[in-house]
Amino acid sequence: MSYASFQVFQSGKLFGLKAEKGQNLLRALRERGFVIKADCSGAYTCGKCKVKIEPSPEPTEADKRLLTESEIAGGIRLACAHEVFDGITVTLPDTEEIKSAVIQSVNIKAEGVLKAALDIGTTTLSLCLFNQKGEILGSVSGNNPQSSFGADVISRIKAERDFPGVQHNLLISKTNEMSESFFADLGISKPLDLFVCGNTVMLHFFFGESPVSMGEYPYTPVFLESKTADGGEIGLKGFDKVCSLSCLAPFAGADITAGILSLYEETDDYKLLIDLGTNAEIALFNKERCFVATAAAGPAFEGANIRCGMPSISGAVKAFKLINGNIYAETIDNKELRGICGSGLISIAAELIRNRIVDKTGRMFASRFEISENVAIYPEDIRELQLSKAAVRAAAEEIIERSGIGYSDISRLCLSGGFGTYINMDDAAFLGLFPPELKEKAEGIGNSAIRGCVMYASDEKIRSAAERIVKSAQVFDLAVLSDFSEKLIKHIDF
Ligand code: FES
Repeated sequence: MSYASFQVFQSGKLFGLKAEKGQNLLRALRERGFVIKADCSGAYTCGKCKVKIEPSPEPTEADKRLLTESEIAGGIRLACAHEVFDGITVTLPDTEEIKSAVIQSVNIKAEGVLKAALDIGTTTLSLCLFNQKGEILGSVSGNNPQSSFGADVISRIKAERDFPGVQHNLLISKTNEMSESFFADLGISKPLDLFVCGNTVMLHFFFGESPVSMGEYPYTPVFLESKTADGGEIGLKGFDKVCSLSCLAPFAGADITAGILSLYEETDDYKLLIDLGTNAEIALFNKERCFVATAAAGPAFEGANIRCGMPSISGAVKAFKLINGNIYAETIDNKELRGICGSGLISIAAELIRNRIVDKTGRMFASRFEISENVAIYPEDIRELQLSKAAVRAAAEEIIERSGIGYSDISRLCLSGGFGTYINMDDAAFLGLFPPELKEKAEGIGNSAIRGCVMYASDEKIRSAAERIVKSAQVFDLAVLSDFSEKLIKHIDF
């Protein structure tokens, strides 16, 4: 076996490395622990794994299809479409770190026993600190470093076969990195109990259980019930006992359990919760009944699989208007425009349809529509959104129909997820994301999972409700319902 020496440059640091000559570059980078965006996990469709290679190899067909001419001229290539060869220097982009810390001005010492909650999203990790009354005192969030292994859980399960244990280690190190600086800032030195939610696959990775059995029929998880562990034994620092909420089904995880708990009330009226994460999870419930469905919506709402997509962080387009041909794009934190997040994508698509640049069938009458010099929306982005929108709408209608509940019985439609607070309801309704009968009841509620996790940890009544929900929830696997594909097709058009 012959080896190639090469260098990797990232965030001001240079690493001298060796790899098997001819090894796929993305694989070589992953094996060595570099975090690089790779939404399609090497399927040559996302164009996210951009690196600069010097000296630059000839561009491949995938490079030509997914990169601009100026990127190719500047030595940018797709890591998944090239091999390692001797003497190259690979420059990785600085990772788009979601790093926000919000700390209330409270006297931590006077708050009594403190605990922490962690929501392990496929794209984002959110950690918060709360007191005995369930009041959140501070929170911090960061990227899920597993993004090098694909944007969705299926790609990550597949990657687990090739790189066993690596994604568990990435999650644990990221949690440690986030908690260490967060707790140090607050003057917390004693280990805390940690409550965790996330989808079933993320919880498997977190607890060091293999999710591989969920990658193929009959999709059997190692566990669904609430799980506890000693923080130190799974590699965590700063945490004592770790406890997860129960999942409802292999693809209806503890994040939807937590989301339901965040809205739970002892009332007869129903709430419809749509969690627009990488996989859309939909729950319709009141104090006695609970129906849940998951839809393989694709990660468009998280900005993944969108050519210039990004999570809902500084610089992402969150609102968009096109008036007389003039573009009005508003970004998160009013920072320089860097990409498009889920709420921006919804508003851009709505405006392009209103201005007849895209028709109701999703056909775009241009090869791209430029939002700024470096950011554009492409026909395939519109198609991706269209599929996600159809899956969510069809799932919502299916669950309402199967429950036998009328629209008038539903008091609130809550859209949660990373961009839940930015979504423009008029644009979402215009695209047909939810039934028009519910438009006046629709609201964005941000991250419902972490709030539900905190409520579970601090309120006995909510814990009993969680037990009832887990026992009584009817979970529909929409993929096997005979008429679901018809509904899906019905809602493909905008
Ligand atoms: S194009 Fe390389 S990971 Fe998607």
